[in-house]
Amino acid sequence: MSEACTYVVFGATGNLSLSKLMPSFYHLEQVGRLDDDMRILAIGRREWSRDDWIKIVKKAVEPKARGGLNKNLFKRFCERLDYFQMDINKAESYQALARLIATDAWPNNAVYYLSLGPDHFASTVRHLGESGMLAETDGWKRVVLEKPFGYDSDSAKQLQAQLNKYLDEDQTYRIDHYLGKGMVQNIMVFRFANLLMEPLWNRNYIDHIQITHAEDRPIGTRAGYYDTSGAMRDMIQSHLLQLLALVTMEPPASMDAEDLRDEKVKLLKSIRSISKKNVSAQAYRAQYAAGEIHGKQVPAYLDEPGMSQDSVTETYAALKLYIDNWRWAGVPFYIQTGKNMAKNKMLVSICFKHSPKQFFRDSHVQKMKPNWIIFGIQPDESIKIEMMAKQPGLEINTEQISLDASMGREGEEPNDAYEELLLDVIKGDRSLFLRYDEVKAAWKVVDPVIQVWGTETGYIDTYKSGSWGPEGANKLFDSPEQNWRYHIHPESER
Ligand code: BG6
Repeated sequence: MSEACTYVVFGATGNLSLSKLMPSFYHLEQVGRLDDDMRILAIGRREWSRDDWIKIVKKAVEPKARGGLNKNLFKRFCERLDYFQMDINKAESYQALARLIATDAWPNNAVYYLSLGPDHFASTVRHLGESGMLAETDGWKRVVLEKPFGYDSDSAKQLQAQLNKYLDEDQTYRIDHYLGKGMVQNIMVFRFANLLMEPLWNRNYIDHIQITHAEDRPIGTRAGYYDTSGAMRDMIQSHLLQLLALVTMEPPASMDAEDLRDEKVKLLKSIRSISKKNVSAQAYRAQYAAGEIHGKQVPAYLDEPGMSQDSVTETYAALKLYIDNWRWAGVPFYIQTGKNMAKNKMLVSICFKHSPKQFFRDSHVQKMKPNWIIFGIQPDESIKIEMMAKQPGLEINTEQISLDASMGREGEEPNDAYEELLLDVIKGDRSLFLRYDEVKAAWKVVDPVIQVWGTETGYIDTYKSGSWGPEGANKLFDSPEQNWRYHIHPESER
């Protein structure tokens, strides 16, 4: 059970709030994790009544409710809800909000969740501070900031300087929803709860590591945001570098927030900076052209609503990185993400080196396949270890077998990443939220790439929607034998 608090959601009528936050709150209600006195105040621009808001929440929650929407449960959930109309650019609105939540109906502890465009972070926090809503005189006050935190290192620094005037670091919750995903957390458990793995987890045994995030969705209605961001900022700077840090960091002193984040920062700082002249050898970008996804024709990025015809924003980005520390020196890390690809698939694939002497022959190919450990992050949650074994029969012929552990429970949907994170804010647990120095170190990794790409405005490679991305990205690999892995299970799945 969590503490009583007032959860104020700015941008509550937006896409993220309706698709993720409200369904997650409902599920937390369903599993009895919300304090009886916890209340949720939606902030929006529109002149809506509480009843209008409840209707909207119902529409958002219904399709996602586990086991269907339970009428009584939803009624209880609605008792927590209210709606407040305000203009987030006007100081008077904040004063009115402060007066409202100071009344007895609203608990003193407060979370302000900024589900807003990044341009509004600094001004909203300033208004909250100036109207006294961040003072912790009568209960704690916490602010959740969605990504992206800045646009590059310089803008992140400026934003942080502005926030510092009104917020302490321990009141700041920079959310990265990937850290709330069960399988992402499982990477830490797999590494640090199994002695078996640690001796192998280094440059002596690992050939390379790949992180693939493929989405079969387009940018949707987010042209305004996405076209100024692109895949490198949208996915790699945040989610995928976090994932890389968890896969490669040293064991932390403890699982406490500061110890965990210290290790991630140390790792991110050890990533070798990409010099501008190496950008073309270590990074690749492309944009989706028209194509077919799951049998349906889909338009090119340039034909998405609201898109400018000369945009060279990347919807696919790939990066090759090195980590210059004792554990990883010389091991390449390949990261890729793309929209409108063939399938939704997210994998972390660890490729081991070949054994020093090959006694056996695979019956199909001349060279034996290396061992792989593959974490299926989504949609399938699984861990798979690929090994070689003898085929049944009179001769010693080998074949690849796999030890498969599916993590999902039959008939049970995994929790949404936001459920745990929403709750962690109330508990005051910041281990799954980013510290500013992590964000800063991650910007440093991608800064040179986005700077160079920012100057190359004449051309961008394309890939067909529904494909597995641009062929050109294969040039990042060291040998023609290497390729992106897209499958957890049989090769034919690709
Ligand atoms: C968001 C990005 O942070 O993560 C989106 O802004 C992306 O562009 C999304 O689609 C991916 O999240 P998930 O959980 O669906 O893999």
